[in-house]
Amino acid sequence: MNIPHPIAAERKEPSASPARANARIRVQGLAKRYGALEVFRNVNVDVGDREIVAIVGPSGCGKTTLLRCIDGLIAPSSGKVEISGVEVTAPLPGVAMVFQQFGLFPWKTVFNNVAYGLRLAGASKAEIRERVPRFIKLVGLAGFEDAYPYQLSGGMQQRCGLARALAIEPSVLLMDEPFAAVDAQTREILQFELLRIWEVRPTSMVFVTHSIEEAVLMGHRVVVLKGRPAGVFEIIEVDLPHPRTRETLMHPHFAQLREHVWTTLMDEARAAELQLQR
Ligand SMILES: Nc1ncnc2c1ncn2[C@@H]1O[C@H](COP(=O)(O)OP(=O)(O)OP(=O)(O)O)[C@@H](O)[C@H]1O
Ligand SMILES: [Mg+2]
Repeated sequence: MNIPHPIAAERKEPSASPARANARIRVQGLAKRYGALEVFRNVNVDVGDREIVAIVGPSGCGKTTLLRCIDGLIAPSSGKVEISGVEVTAPLPGVAMVFQQFGLFPWKTVFNNVAYGLRLAGASKAEIRERVPRFIKLVGLAGFEDAYPYQLSGGMQQRCGLARALAIEPSVLLMDEPFAAVDAQTREILQFELLRIWEVRPTSMVFVTHSIEEAVLMGHRVVVLKGRPAGVFEIIEVDLPHPRTRETLMHPHFAQLREHVWTTLMDEARAAELQLQR
């Protein structure tokens, strides 16, 4: 059901619906509906080569749906997604997704989970033997090659999911709340590890998160999705220095940006509350 949104009319069309000169991902006029439910409409976002774009928005606004459209797992109702100039109609090689709930195969060991994408891509046995341990080590899971997911903590399972995505050396990494299911301390460790890995091996990344702090820390830009149907309400440039480290969190501008994103999202929550009171 489409409920008119009280603040939809106030939506600022983002000034920089930025046609990045070297866009790796180009989302153009994207809309998705499920029957009567129009999830989002007219979403335009470009993600540059080696850029991290964080996406925030209230629960149910269509963040996962948008990622699935970018990954080619579902078709949009209108508009299109291009990756490296190719229109996405099915999952493309070189694009990896990390899911919120790890998405590991419980019957496969860490080694075989990490090898999965490589095998799918037709990598040779020698390549698998060389690459898999390298990525297991990169995410700090060395020694756990033969363990099964049930023998790992949540944080370790998330590392395994990350290694699996990284092992195919993707040019595009799509992450759907990758750290939502781990405890706060592990989350912080994984955030900085991912940033460290990104510094070594920069990819285009779309990073969906509920955490405003995480969005500002990870993102070169933060896209705020909101409204019903949702749309890009604002795109915020995160002009904080690189590499992003723990010190970034102490930067006075970090606090300003966090407040800005927070206020933008809280307007939405207040509007929803008003709607309920009617
Ligand atoms: N396969 C589907 N069929 C019908 N409706 C769907 C389907 N998938 C998602 N939806 C609906 O689309 C809307 C957006 O869902 P989506 O999972 O993309 O939201 P989200 O922003 O990722 O939410 P969250 O922050 O809670 O993860 C929701 O109203 C959901 O019920
Ligand atoms: Mg989601």
